[in-house]
Amino acid sequence: MATEQQTRDAAADGGTATGSESLTVTDNRTGRTYELPIDDGTVRAMDLRQIKADEGEFGMMAYDPAFTNTASCRSTITYIDGEAGVLEHRGYSIEQLCERSTFLEVAYLLIFGELPTQPQLDRWVYDITHHTFAHEDVKQFFEGFRYDAHPMGMLLAGVGALSTFYPDAKDIDDPEERYMAAVRTIAKVPTLAAFSYRHNMGLPYVYPDNDLSFPENFLSMMFKKTEVKYEPDPRLARALDVLFILHADHEQNCSTNAVRGVGSSGVDPYSAVAAGVAALYGPLHGGANEAVLRMLRAIGSVDNIPDFLERVKNREEKLMGFGHRVYKNYDPRARIIQQHMEEVFEATEYNPLVEIARELEKHALDDEFFTSRKLYPNVDFYSGIIYEALEIPTEMFTVIFAIPRTAGWIAQWMEMSDDPEQKIARPRQIYTGEREREYAAIDERQGPEKIVGPPARRPKRQRRGA
Ligand code: ACO
Repeated sequence: MATEQQTRDAAADGGTATGSESLTVTDNRTGRTYELPIDDGTVRAMDLRQIKADEGEFGMMAYDPAFTNTASCRSTITYIDGEAGVLEHRGYSIEQLCERSTFLEVAYLLIFGELPTQPQLDRWVYDITHHTFAHEDVKQFFEGFRYDAHPMGMLLAGVGALSTFYPDAKDIDDPEERYMAAVRTIAKVPTLAAFSYRHNMGLPYVYPDNDLSFPENFLSMMFKKTEVKYEPDPRLARALDVLFILHADHEQNCSTNAVRGVGSSGVDPYSAVAAGVAALYGPLHGGANEAVLRMLRAIGSVDNIPDFLERVKNREEKLMGFGHRVYKNYDPRARIIQQHMEEVFEATEYNPLVEIARELEKHALDDEFFTSRKLYPNVDFYSGIIYEALEIPTEMFTVIFAIPRTAGWIAQWMEMSDDPEQKIARPRQIYTGEREREYAAIDERQGPEKIVGPPARRPKRQRRGA
């Protein structure tokens, strides 16, 4: 593949700009030349299909495992400029939204495209607040999980199960059903998330409290004990709301792509969102903040930072919470989280890991190894520390991530459903296997000596009950 420098050299050697918005491709197998239109800086992969070495061929495809350079949709929801460290939703900067909006206002913005007027917001908040209860059968369903079931596994199953409670949501073209699905998922995911935590803790589930705001209600469902009314600290509720805003959407990431891909089959939105929860469950997507906490604990003291960074540079360790596929600058979300840390620690016990994190960041940003690779703190560098201060256990971190991301998933699902260019997602492959083999009877087959089967069993972990 030509590097940027080679391309520049070629241009200097006589490449001529014609000013036309197209890409000229010469197939050196045939000598034929094709002109592919360029639209929004992209060429259409389907335009490659006309390129054939001979007429009977299928035609050329683009090969892009992991979609690292493929735009799969047009979207007006979230804009990211990774080089400049910019994140905007519907054109509003994440900084303004965190400073001036609530999470529910941002959820409205993502889904409907505009910030709500006061009456629109009142209606939206009322509808969400009045759909936070889960059906009692959902509660029973949760009671059936093992005592130590992972909360993300419970959430995944719970969201999928919602589709059985609201079968009318299958009518995905009905605007009322769509609205109700948006309201129900955003309202009920926090309830299911809190149920999963209480289940792990062996505590009775707490029903939603309609007098409380969205983040306050979540804190109440998590932490209410014997008090008649749970009164959350407003500083913690606001910090949680800001964390919700920061995680509401991040364009075509792994889980959003999963929601769009599954949703493209025409399935109901609960099932599509369940696919998003499943994708987020994976450690490469939702689990980095947990790894940051482990790393900070292992470093143990500010004095050990230089040694640790030497090990990172020698590739013996990774600086977790640093670097991002898209941001090649300070992740704007990490900066905002930092601004809220002080008020969280005013209301909670001080977490000594903060000092290590801050010093670690300072050292890394002063070091050519990290700056030359454009490695800056990402959203996960500080989020785990805040969750820990809120007394949220590490297994719940991805569950907390899923609460606000539900708004982004729904917004993206709706946009996909309305996009006339979208159809069922169905990538192509390059087949590299055998062809047209002669079928052998079982006694004539020759294969490796080794019997294929599961590896030797490890001792089973202790199970409680039957
Ligand atoms: N620590 C040390 N070196 C790093 C780190 C890191 N955290 N991240 C990248 N590098 C180095 C790579 O080794 C590579 O160096 P080289 O060019 O000398 O080989 C260079 O920086 C470029 O890194 P890539 O791996 O090519 O960057 P990529 O975009 O593929 O990876 C990723 C991004 C996966 C996030 C990576 O930076 C990483 O693993 N970070 C730590 C995990 C983490 O914090 N993940 C959370 C991301 S935010 C989110 O998902 C919400």
